[in-house]
Amino acid sequence: MSRVFSGVQPTGNIHIGNYLGALRQFVDLQDGSECIYCIVDMHAITVPQDPKELKKHILDVAALYMAIGVDPKKSIVFVQSDVKQHAELGWILNCNTYMGELSRMTQYKQKKQKSENPSVGLFDYPVLMASDILLYDTDVVPVGNDQKQHIELARDIAIRVNGKYGKTFVVPEGRFMKSGARVMSLDDPTSKMSKSNPNEKSRICLLDEPGKVKKAIMSATTDSEGVIRYSIKEKPGISNLLDIYSAFSGKSVAKIVKEYEGHGYGDFKKDLVEVVNTSLDPIRARFEEIRNSKELVEALKDGAEKASEIAERTMKRVKSNMGLGL
Ligand code: AMP
Ligand code: TRP
Repeated sequence: MSRVFSGVQPTGNIHIGNYLGALRQFVDLQDGSECIYCIVDMHAITVPQDPKELKKHILDVAALYMAIGVDPKKSIVFVQSDVKQHAELGWILNCNTYMGELSRMTQYKQKKQKSENPSVGLFDYPVLMASDILLYDTDVVPVGNDQKQHIELARDIAIRVNGKYGKTFVVPEGRFMKSGARVMSLDDPTSKMSKSNPNEKSRICLLDEPGKVKKAIMSATTDSEGVIRYSIKEKPGISNLLDIYSAFSGKSVAKIVKEYEGHGYGDFKKDLVEVVNTSLDPIRARFEEIRNSKELVEALKDGAEKASEIAERTMKRVKSNMGLGL
């Protein structure tokens, strides 16, 4: 059975980009694979965090995983900092990664610009991500398109270590969705939907109230042509909304375009509000129930124990192959 690993940062504002690009796949993969899903709090602290908020967001993301259908009886769900081997392997992989490789990471280049005084952790972020993945002999990593370069790096590090020290790591592969792998901002459809955009109407969060979802969609940037057709270059706004419609409804973009022949953007947007809210309703309801339950913390503790066992086996192998320790 193949092993699946993925992680999401506990930074609030989990949006439909996160859901359509990554989280949705977590659920689909549960039945045919051994899945491990992590809340990557140590990645979150690469930029400043308020401790109280961080703690709250850890439990929010855990409850969201479960609200969308991740089942802790089938999958291992845990918090990254509860398994110390992530940091341990991180150091060892640091010593097998080059400054030049990390300097080329586009996400670092973008994030660096937003930060006055970027931390070493922000630069080193992709190595910690490689540790997360390689620690569990992961075959498949379901993520959004923006993580492609990081997955490539994890593969390069695995291949390099295997070459230097003998077979140590499984070389992982990324898994990307066909639709929803890159959901764009509603206010500026040429940049990706992100948790950190100061304009709240730029994104739809999974827990937004129906009225807020409506406002965000109705005010989404489009164009003045007035015809519903798909062209990312000429019509990035409408194309993004078509992608979102398609991902939530399961209908192909071509079919949706046909259905809206002769209709204006207003009609299309109104229906999209319905489609999105119908999909989010059950998630919102389950979230409230799970977030306030005792089982949530129990499931995370149990997950950390199971994850630690696997991680420790890998660390023994790594240390032995590299000649570390007694
Ligand atoms: P993060 O919140 O940065 O931890 O991202 C969690 C997951 O969501 C990762 O797999 C990302 O690749 C994915 N993701 C983030 N933003 C988007 C987006 N706008 N479209 C599609 N996937 C995304
Ligand atoms: N870097 C990922 C993101 O920002 C989150 C992440 C951390 C991750 N470790 C991971 C994703 C391991 C997949 C596998 O989206």
